[in-house]
Amino acid sequence: MHRCRAMVDIGRRQFLRGSALVAASATVAAAGAAPRAEAATSPARVEYPSNRLANVSELKLNEPLEVTYPDAGAPGVLLKLGTRVEGGAGLDGDIVGFSTICPHKGFPLTYSAASKTFNCPGHYSVFDPEKGGQQVWGQATQNLPQYALRIADNGDIFAEGVDELIYGRLSNVL
Ligand code: FES
Repeated sequence: MHRCRAMVDIGRRQFLRGSALVAASATVAAAGAAPRAEAATSPARVEYPSNRLANVSELKLNEPLEVTYPDAGAPGVLLKLGTRVEGGAGLDGDIVGFSTICPHKGFPLTYSAASKTFNCPGHYSVFDPEKGGQQVWGQATQNLPQYALRIADNGDIFAEGVDELIYGRLSNVL
């Protein structure tokens, strides 16, 4: 019993000595530390081009029109859904535009007019254009990138931004 208490005392002393050392080291480090540089602000702002993609007269109800945006290497579609949706452009608020590269691993998406969904042949993710490209099933961890659209008085459709990162890019604008 006596031996046991002695061992406990030794353990306490070693613990206290260790704590004192740690505290002393921290004090020295804090005193000698160079002033911290201000974290660089990363605005992560991207200047999107305002590109004319098509005219409303070219759109057919529920049929995707192939386009590219923000550059020729980024395929997408314009789609007149026939139903007013959030983020929809045009008089009827039903024109939307999306990247058609799957945000999971970059397979090209196909559009099903019957279900009004974008579908991935790679691993079967499904995206809903009536809900801002929300993924409704599958592997992707991101919704489908949607274009910010503006319709001019003459019906020309301009894309002026994208709300998510296009697959395979560090920045949507290269
Ligand atoms: Fe589309 Fe995997 S590439 S779900």
